[in-house]
Order: sequence, then structure tokens, then C-alpha cells
Amino acid sequence: MRALEAADPAHGAVNPWVALAYLIAGVCFILALRGLSHPTTSRAGNRYGMVGMLIAVVTTLVTHDVANIVEIGIAILLGGIIGFTIARRIAMTAMPELVAAFHSLVGLAAVLVGWAAYLNPGAFGILEASGDISAVSRIEMGLGIAIGAITFSGSVIAFAKLSGKMSGSPILLPGRHVINLGTLAAIIVLTGLFATAAASGTMPLIVALTIAAFIIGFLLIIPIGGADMPVVVSMLNSYSGWAAAAMGFTLGNTAMIITGALVGSSGAILSYIMCRAMNRSFLSVIAGGFGADDSAGGGGEAREQRPYKQGSAEDAAFMLKQAEKVIVIPGYGMAVAQAQHALREMGDLLEEQGVEVKYAIHPVAGRMPGHMNVLLAEANVSYDKVFELEDINSEFAQCDVAFIIGANDVVNPAAKTDKSSPIYGMPVFDVDKAKQVFFIKRSMGGVGYAGVDNDVFYMDQTMMLLSDAKKMVEEINKALGD
Ligand code: TAP
Repeated sequence: MRALEAADPAHGAVNPWVALAYLIAGVCFILALRGLSHPTTSRAGNRYGMVGMLIAVVTTLVTHDVANIVEIGIAILLGGIIGFTIARRIAMTAMPELVAAFHSLVGLAAVLVGWAAYLNPGAFGILEASGDISAVSRIEMGLGIAIGAITFSGSVIAFAKLSGKMSGSPILLPGRHVINLGTLAAIIVLTGLFATAAASGTMPLIVALTIAAFIIGFLLIIPIGGADMPVVVSMLNSYSGWAAAAMGFTLGNTAMIITGALVGSSGAILSYIMCRAMNRSFLSVIAGGFGADDSAGGGGEAREQRPYKQGSAEDAAFMLKQAEKVIVIPGYGMAVAQAQHALREMGDLLEEQGVEVKYAIHPVAGRMPGHMNVLLAEANVSYDKVFELEDINSEFAQCDVAFIIGANDVVNPAAKTDKSSPIYGMPVFDVDKAKQVFFIKRSMGGVGYAGVDNDVFYMDQTMMLLSDAKKMVEEINKALGD
């Protein structure tokens, strides 16, 4: 691609039509984010995103002096086919690792664009009259390459951990905080030197900068435990946005700046929301070790033996039939067991018998944002029966059965009462107020993500249904039909 002059505020006059097209694309991206915030509008959100991207790509291609449109067309076609095929085949539970893999590509693209602009600045319209690249462009380039390289290597490790290609346990190098801070300081110094050095001396600096950034991405993610990965993936999403925005400045491309800033800020906000809902400090997650080692991560602790009541699918079916109102609380175990279809069927059977059934979704139930919403939607559970924590929590006092399926931490009352608990402060469902509680999990030994015991198991009104979630619900459905 040659001569990026058309929409370049820094290096020439802005073509008003190009500016308008990029503005429309930016508005489409904002509408896409808005739409994706709710299941009912998410399809429309996706469509806005696709239209915005189409406008941005076509505008860039028609307004720039493209060296070889055939090569670009082939690349778009190949990439499109690969993306389409992967998206159709991917299992919902593998979504976080797919997102991590895609972020690595965004990071790598930022590094390659930065290097291309460095090696051939004339083609990118960033050469000054003096025949050199300006200090400002070099800072933008250095930042884009550094953030892109961190995003790339960090996302590759996140992908490997999430897909089980490497252990999900934290890898804690001795003195890692000193090494990390030292490498970060080196990146900042190298960027400064790269911006101010004479043109002839910049090559070793940009090489060192790129290598240091690849290393820090790797170092930052290896100490983070597998279960914290969703927060990390969202954070890397944010980094990839900032890398794109930095490249947008280098190339004088408004659409890239807008898109990058939107991705960067929405990823940062999502990471913050997830940490807040898990009652973890953002720093403890990204520093992978500051306070995270002993408090969370599904470690499991020695537990006293306490009496509990165990029931069968037939017992549960009998009592469910008598109920007037049932609130279902799905969690990570429902996703593991893929029990959502059987659960929907159970809801239908109960409604046929005049029982009111509602679904209560905690903001961090499962292992990724919207995990439960997506699974229930896949099973065709109607959106108007699905409620957020704050909208349904007051209803437990009037419900006959709180039906907990594969959830644990999100119903643990220790979050309200036990200051020493790692989940203290996290908002939880008030299932203890329900007349009866049915609790599906595989064994009394298994713990949730936070690795702590749960008083709900031992309450008078609780009946433990110990089995794989899908198997148990299928047996309940059979008993409901008999
Ligand atoms: P968890 O507290 O992790 O509990 C999962 C439960 O499912 C366990 O009791 C487990 O017990 C059971 N289970 C696992 N496989 C099962 C199967 N096949 N059949 C039946 N039960 C099964 O889940 P939650 O309540 O959804 O809470 C989510 C946790 O993850 C929170 O602590 C949250 O902070 C954390 N987290 C969430 C996110 C996001 S964004 N959602 C991101 C990172 C971390 P058994 O092993 O005995 O079966």
C-alpha cells in the first residue's frame, strides 16, 4: 500500500467525504457496543459492527493509493473464510480462548504495521521535509509496536492456558516483580531514545524495543492463574485497542483511532466490572500474585465434616411439582455439564403444570461475562424469564424452590458475613431466604472457583442433589413426566 494521504490530518488536507465515512463507521461501532450490551439487541449490535467495518475498509481502499488491490482482496477473502469457519465451529465454552487467539493477531498486526511504517515511512506519508520521521511519529510508532507486542505474546500465553496447551496454574518466577518493572522501564527508556536518536541509529533501538515488549507480554501473563484469565483476556482486548489507536495516529487514520479507543476503553471498563463483581482488586489480578496466591483460584481447603441432606431426582421432581414459584440459579457447573437444554425442558414441564419459573443470573456466574445468558439463549430460554441479580434478589423470600445448578460462589452467604472469606463483599443471591433449596453439584468435596466451603449445603431447607448436572436434570425431567 502506498501514500496514505486522503484522511491524514497531520500530513495533508482532510477529505471531507472520507472524514464523513469514518465518522459514520465510528457511530456504527458505538451502536454495536450499545447493542452488544443486551441479548435481545446483540444481533443488531453485531450487524452495526459489520456495517461499520465494511464502511471503514471500503473507504480506506478507495481513498488510498493501493499498490496491489488483488493481493489485498485475496488476503481479505482468505481471512474472511478462516474467521467464518472458526466462528461457526467453535463451542461456546471455548469462546474465551478464541478471543485470546484473535487478540494475538491484532497485536501482531500492530507490530507489523509499525515496522512497515518504520522501514518505508514515505509509503505511509510520515516522512518530513528533512527526510526523517518526526519525533512524534516515532513515539506513536514505538508505543504501537510495544503495546502490540505485549498484546501478542500475552494473548498467546492466555490462549495456551485457556485451551489446556499449557498448565493453567500460575508460574511464579523468583523476583518477577523486579524483572517486570525493570523490563517496563527499559521499554519506556528505549521508546524515548528511539524518538530522539539520529535516524541512522534507530534500528538497534526499535529491535530491542520490540524484543523487550514481546518478553514483558509473556512475563506479565505466566503468573496469572487460569481462572483469572477472563479478566486478563478483557485486559488484553483493551491493550489491542490502544495498540490500534497508536497506529491510527501514526498513519493519520481517524477510523483506526476511533475504533482503537472504543476497543481500548470498553475492554478496560469490562475488566474493571469483572474485578468489582468478583471483589478482586484489578491490580491483584494483573499482577498475578499480589494477594491472589492464597485467596482465590479453586485451591480447596481442609473442611470439617458437617451433616447435610441428600435427595434423589424423584424427591426433587415431587417437590418441584408442588411449588408455585421456582428460581433457577445456573453457574459454571451447568456450562461444564452442558445442562442448559435439559434445564429448559425442565422449565417447560414445570410451566405446563402451572409452576412459575424464573432464571437468576449473577454478573460473574460461569467463567466469562454473559456466560450463562449465552447458554440459556442457546437453549431458547425466553429473555423475559431471565433476571439480573439486583432485579430478582428480593424475590427469594417469596419463592418455594431455589434451584441451584452448578453454581456455588455466587450463592455463598460467606460473601455477606465472613470478613476473612476471599469472596467477602461480592454480592450474592439470597437463596437462604427461599423455602427450599435444591443444590446440584457432583460431590461434597468439590469447591467453586474461590475454593471455599458453602453454608448453604448444610441448611435445614437444603437438599443436595449430587450428580452431574445434565444427568440429574434429565432424571428430574423423566420423573416429572411420569
Ligand atoms: P463456581 O463457584 O466456580 O462453582 C461451580 C460449581 O459447579 C461447583 O460447585 C462444582 O462442584 C459444580 N460443578 C462443576 N462441574 C459440574 C458438573 N458437571 N455437574 C454439576 N456440577 C458441577 O461457579 P459460579 O457459582 O458460577 O461462580 C463463578 C466463579 O467464577 C466466581 O467465584 C467468579 O468470581 C469466578 N469467575 C468468574 C468470571 C466471570 S467473568 N464469569 C471470571 C473469572 C472468575 P463439583 O465439582 O462438586 O461438581
